[in-house]
Amino acid sequence: MSLEIARLFDQQDPLKNFRNEFVFPETESHAPLYFAGHSLGLMPKKASEYINQELKSWGRYGVEGHFEGPHPWLPYHENITASFARLVGAQESEVVSMNTLTVNLHLLMVSFYRPTKARFKIIIEANTFPSDKYAVDSQARFHGFDPREAVVELKPRAGEAHLRQEDILQVIQEQGESLALVMLGNCNYLSGQCFNFKEITDKAHAVGAFAGFNLAHGAGNLFLQLHDWKVDFAVWCSYKYLNAGPGGIAGAFVHEQHLGSKSLPRFQGWWGQNKSTRFKMGPDFDAIPTVEAWQLSNPPIFQLASLRASMELFDRATIRALREKGDKLTSYFESQIKEHLKDQVTVITPELPQRGSMLCLRFTKSPRDSMEKLRKKGVFVDFREPDIIRATPIPLYNSFEDVYRLVQTFKEVVHA
Ligand SMILES: Cc1ncc(COP(=O)(O)O)c(C=O)c1O
Repeated sequence: MSLEIARLFDQQDPLKNFRNEFVFPETESHAPLYFAGHSLGLMPKKASEYINQELKSWGRYGVEGHFEGPHPWLPYHENITASFARLVGAQESEVVSMNTLTVNLHLLMVSFYRPTKARFKIIIEANTFPSDKYAVDSQARFHGFDPREAVVELKPRAGEAHLRQEDILQVIQEQGESLALVMLGNCNYLSGQCFNFKEITDKAHAVGAFAGFNLAHGAGNLFLQLHDWKVDFAVWCSYKYLNAGPGGIAGAFVHEQHLGSKSLPRFQGWWGQNKSTRFKMGPDFDAIPTVEAWQLSNPPIFQLASLRASMELFDRATIRALREKGDKLTSYFESQIKEHLKDQVTVITPELPQRGSMLCLRFTKSPRDSMEKLRKKGVFVDFREPDIIRATPIPLYNSFEDVYRLVQTFKEVVHA
């Protein structure tokens, strides 16, 4: 397919103008081809304006900035709530922006991993992002269990690259009454494989376990319905698909059915205290009746400001329309690779519906070398050991022409 066809697709794209809302990085000689949004999303132009607004408020109002100015800081995180709810398919009472991803994972495991002698196992993926493995291992240890016994790793069948959904359900069934928690990423960081959450959640509940998900590669990428799927909890970061900047503030979801529960233990801090009595500074904790009860500290306002800039774009574009474009872009990307690089590059990410926007690619010849050459040509993708190059066409800011040019650049590099 030609460049003209890619340009035609772009003309027909209802989301094409969102690209102008972002700052693309500068490169020395080539126009940037940014395909690393699965790692760090591009900066929305409004981010600096919104952060500057809060710097101005700080200068102008000092401590009174908590109550004064266009966006007082005391309730600043509430500016994100409705957008997060739309993003992950939740009620507003079920979502909050707070902390960072692994911190939120621990905080929610405090509540949802409450092992007993009989029921103490956690199911995760064998090739999960290392931080998730460290987190579940340390939770098991914290409760006095040996992670080698408590943590059950899901592996693909011999000779297969991906997990089968029926095998995940089977393992949950087999662990049965010994299973306390299923904690999966909904989209694997290394293969791009995404799972059917609803079935996994239903199965976990059927054996009496909780189901929690790490949406690091799902939030802002996939179409999610956490409330309807009855997921118990979820966490996500905002620096990848959500474009909130490095170290961006993370998200957390707790299903409505658990809110206000007296039996669910929770770590506490003053930001989780009932807002009407918080500043009475009393010694007794009275939890906010929403997921905000899990908040510990007053949040970093500048990080929230850039997240607000990004979430406004998601609200305008809608996650449904973004996923629709994402499927077209990624399918186009895959077809271009198959057309031009059949023998040099293998797509290891499964087909729809088991994926989002990211494609994980195996370059048959010296991937690390290719990576360096690509960088010199203005291409932003990333490399994961031992031989995976990850590239993601982001529907908010990548075009079909970008994808066309990316594959042409791959061709130049592998044929060099
Ligand atoms: C799946 C997954 N889990 C955990 C993390 C760690 O995130 P953080 O440093 O925000 O805690 C990442 C970061 O890339 C990730 O992709």
